[in-house]
Amino acid sequence: MCFSCFFGNPVFVAAPNIDTIVSLAKRRGFVFPSSEVYGGLGSAWDYGPLGVELCNNVKQAWWRWLVYERDDIEGIDSSIILNRLVWKYSGHEATFNDWLIDCRKCKGRFRADKIVDNKCPSCGASDWTEARPFNTMLQTKLGAVADDDPTALAYLRPETAQGIFINFLNVQTTMRRKLPFGIAQVGKSFRNEVTPGNFILRTREFEQMEMEYFVSPTAEHSKLVDYWVEQYLEWFGSLGLNRENLFLYEVPGEELAHYSKRTVDIMYRYFPEREKPWEELMGIAWRTDFDLGTHSKNKLDAEGKRLNPDSTEDLSYFDEAAKQRFYPHVIEPAAGVNRTVLAVLMDAYSEKTNDKGETRVILKLSPQLAPIKAAILPLAKNKPEIVGMAKAIKRSLQPVLRAVYDDTGGIGKLYARQDEIGTPFCITVDHQSLEDEAVTVRDRDTWEQERIKVADLAEHLQKRLKPYPVPESI
Ligand code: GAP
Repeated sequence: MCFSCFFGNPVFVAAPNIDTIVSLAKRRGFVFPSSEVYGGLGSAWDYGPLGVELCNNVKQAWWRWLVYERDDIEGIDSSIILNRLVWKYSGHEATFNDWLIDCRKCKGRFRADKIVDNKCPSCGASDWTEARPFNTMLQTKLGAVADDDPTALAYLRPETAQGIFINFLNVQTTMRRKLPFGIAQVGKSFRNEVTPGNFILRTREFEQMEMEYFVSPTAEHSKLVDYWVEQYLEWFGSLGLNRENLFLYEVPGEELAHYSKRTVDIMYRYFPEREKPWEELMGIAWRTDFDLGTHSKNKLDAEGKRLNPDSTEDLSYFDEAAKQRFYPHVIEPAAGVNRTVLAVLMDAYSEKTNDKGETRVILKLSPQLAPIKAAILPLAKNKPEIVGMAKAIKRSLQPVLRAVYDDTGGIGKLYARQDEIGTPFCITVDHQSLEDEAVTVRDRDTWEQERIKVADLAEHLQKRLKPYPVPESI
């Protein structure tokens, strides 16, 4: 039976909350709670066979868009553990703090800025200790040293950005770059979050996609922030995010980080069920010349004293045309891989319900992000010729796209499974295929079926796997 007949006029429903995605993610092999065999580890998650593909596709889409398609951005991959002095001069050792308070009644410990109406979220009391700073950089020790040797202390990076700043001159000189240009990096960052939670939204180990765009001190910095906000809105549109689920937050002065003169956060509707549904997806900050200046040996303070007596380099730039030396300013779009993945899953989630109230989940992922692009399904698994042909098609598609062969159920079940994990195309090999050298290609979103010659299949699929066009509303 054809599914569209079975379902009559379907009703689509987007993900009503994060829990719906947690359940789908575990059921279908996207994300598992970490260390489950030992009772888990709070707020740590492992990416399964489909989750790792989805994350990789997000990162590759980002890298292609910035590093390959533009001509003004280079990529790097710096160490996670850097010289401790990097974090001294970046300001993280002194200021990368959450403010903690303890409830005197129930001894619960909370972030001071998250307390509503001065009431303890556990017991409702309002008897608090003084707020005190808690540095959220994760510490480790390097080498076989004594436990109390202070010189062995090192940090796991809390942002990828600093690895870019300290390599500014290396990249600029080796790639012979002139301003403006950017450096992109994607990789793991770590923060000892006091209150992690909400699935992969806030974890202690996460991945960032950061780009530092270096410009002259006289550039129009605020306009450049707006420019990058627009660029990212377009990019998120191409990943399939609905503009209505994105919201721009102009960060007020008192909330700005120590290095920022202006920051705009792109928020996503992670909590559609709540009165306040928005949470940060990414931020776009004008970091001024703070970072290059602070890591430079020649930068002086107001009294003419060297700001950084430990640095051996000067990360300034000589502008040939203007015959001037200066510290470039930076516009930084900083996005989270995991938060992008969660937003993509929430926006792609849809349910079709028929007249009888039966529901199917369809993950309408942008084809470029789908973990599997095509599933090859034999209509009769007891017919060696059909199975052989299906497996040969899978092998022939593999060099150009991610394809799988599946014969572990009836065709209806196989279609439903692929819909639920977002596979854009199901390809069925049937008895007629043996004669006409053609297969049926079924579209995930419309359930329409087309007969395509095997010889034309790879080209046909590749044409249809392009990113979504940017919606007109953006
Ligand atoms: N270099 C600037 C910077 O790190 P941020 O706003 O602290 O800025 C950028 O982080 C992005 O990294 C956030 O918008 C978010 O997407 C992601 N991120 C930050 N902390 C995170 C956490 N604990 N868990 C998951 N993602 C996180």
